[in-house]
Amino acid sequence: MKEVMVMEKVTVIKGDIAYLPFHVDVIVNAANSALVPGGGVDGAINRKAGPKLADAMLGIGGTPTGTAVYTKAYDLNADYVIHAVGPKFIDGDHGEDELLKDAYESVMKIAQKLSANSIAFPFISTGVYGYPLAEAVKIAIQTVEKFNLEAKVYFVAFDATTEELAQKYLNN
Ligand code: APR
Repeated sequence: MKEVMVMEKVTVIKGDIAYLPFHVDVIVNAANSALVPGGGVDGAINRKAGPKLADAMLGIGGTPTGTAVYTKAYDLNADYVIHAVGPKFIDGDHGEDELLKDAYESVMKIAQKLSANSIAFPFISTGVYGYPLAEAVKIAIQTVEKFNLEAKVYFVAFDATTEELAQKYLNN
């Protein structure tokens, strides 16, 4: 059997995930478990995608924390949106780290099923859901790197602090 070494292809970029200047197969959304379009990255994605995205999300009807579902991407510069539900950070003693890891793994499994060659992630749970940024960034990068999916992965940092943190973890 031929063994193939898969090189990790993870990059951090700064910007708005709804307005990436290039096409990606998958844009990841940080959704809530009801799949009711909200604010933050969810709001930005929905505004750019147009109202059919909300219809599709509401049509699914919900997905538990730590899981993900996918829809078409409508007017986004992508083929699919994978909606992942990260945990709300309480105090770190409520399985938040495992749930965050689960959310990223759920996305990667769906991306694999969709044969995605490129994926753009926001940092799930680091906004409204209050996950401490450094820890969440570390979990995000480690989980995605470990998965070994043969796709180009972009982490989209919304601000310079997040970008710097992510670059630090990528180089370690
Ligand atoms: N592009 C990239 N990143 C963004 C964008 C954007 N357009 N807008 C916000 N972010 C960043 C935030 O700065 C944060 O670091 O995405 C990260 C995730 O923040 P949230 O969008 O608040 O997501 P989360 O913390 O997972 O909370 C999910 O927020 O809007 C609701 O419906 C959503 O209820 C759900 C909750």
